[in-house]
Amino acid sequence: MEPQKGYLRRIAFFVFEMWFATVFALLILFALASIGMSLDMLEKSYFTEIGAASPGDSIISQDSAETQFADLAQLLPKVATDDRTVIITSVNEAFARPNSLLGLFRESFQVGEGIGHLLNNVLVVAVDAKAFSYCKAVHPHCYLLEVKTMDLSSANNYMTEAYVELVWTKLSLQQRVLELGYNFLFTDVDIVWFRNPFRHISAFADMTTSSDVFSSDSDSLDNWPNTGFFYVKATNRTVEMLRRWRAARARFPPNHEQAIFNEIKHELARDLGVRVRFLDTARFGGFCRIFHIDMGAACTMHANCCFGLANKLHDLRDVLGQWKNYTGMTPQEKKSQKFTWKDPAKCGTPDKRDT
Ligand SMILES: *[C@@H]1O[C@H](CO)[C@@H](O)[C@H](O)[C@H]1NC(C)=O
Ligand SMILES: *[C@@H]1O[C@H](CO)[C@@H](O)[C@H](O)[C@H]1NC(C)=O
Repeated sequence: MEPQKGYLRRIAFFVFEMWFATVFALLILFALASIGMSLDMLEKSYFTEIGAASPGDSIISQDSAETQFADLAQLLPKVATDDRTVIITSVNEAFARPNSLLGLFRESFQVGEGIGHLLNNVLVVAVDAKAFSYCKAVHPHCYLLEVKTMDLSSANNYMTEAYVELVWTKLSLQQRVLELGYNFLFTDVDIVWFRNPFRHISAFADMTTSSDVFSSDSDSLDNWPNTGFFYVKATNRTVEMLRRWRAARARFPPNHEQAIFNEIKHELARDLGVRVRFLDTARFGGFCRIFHIDMGAACTMHANCCFGLANKLHDLRDVLGQWKNYTGMTPQEKKSQKFTWKDPAKCGTPDKRDT
């Protein structure tokens, strides 16, 4: 009798353990879903090998921002256009090494329609020393963002935490750029450029952002921003907008800057009078919804909804290949039919045919 009881108890305990593990896993999944962790963020944290500032550094007062980004004031006049606009992107070592994203990004300007000169206005922000030296080897304007290396043993999900920390550090750099009186266009480095995006940025708006979901009305705050690509005009109002954006981090569950901007976009418009415009996904597209995008209108293509650097590189290279084929055609051939992008072979999600 006794041994069998022990056996039953072990089985009961095992069943309890399994039940507990399942409930625990579901709770974690639910928590992740409810903080609105987007695919884009997962995808970035998946292979981002970065150091990051410790949480205490994330809210930087204006004084310390002046010290932290001390050399920006000397650098920006060399990079900016004559109307004081600077294009900013950022790279880690994996993105900056030869034959990686930085190379593709730069190549897209060279094969794009009359946008090669804009490379002179691109400031590449490197988040580690290796990325900085790779950058300097190929690009005229590189900036090393000093981010303290996070103790990797201190947290299990360090990649996600480091990534989130980094996007907030980048936001404080962007605030500094505005404070110095420069407009900026931030672009993720996994975006390839085909045509000049400034043609679609109006003087009316304080901020112009690409969209995850676009409703056909550029001025509607119901659009969902994708801050992988956004322009901000330098005004007192936008400096305050960046300050509030960063401060809002404390009010919401841990998240990256895009989700929190989405939370506060209405109050920024109401309280500050900030005017936000959204770019049409038909021109500023992404792999999440590539279906039926007309190459004749395309400005940029974002390798979002894509897991893994190798997959991203493969499909972005293919996009550039399709673009080269397209631009190689005669005007008659281009007019003869509508050319649309092929579905990405390696990237892609079940909802990529949504639109
Ligand atoms: C912007 O802010 C600065 C510093 O607070 C102030 O001197 C300046 O007058 C403001 N400019 C405008 C247009 O409000
Ligand atoms: C470009 O065109 C050639 C010839 O039609 C074709 O074989 C190739 O697959 C095209 N490249 C891409 C990336 O679509």
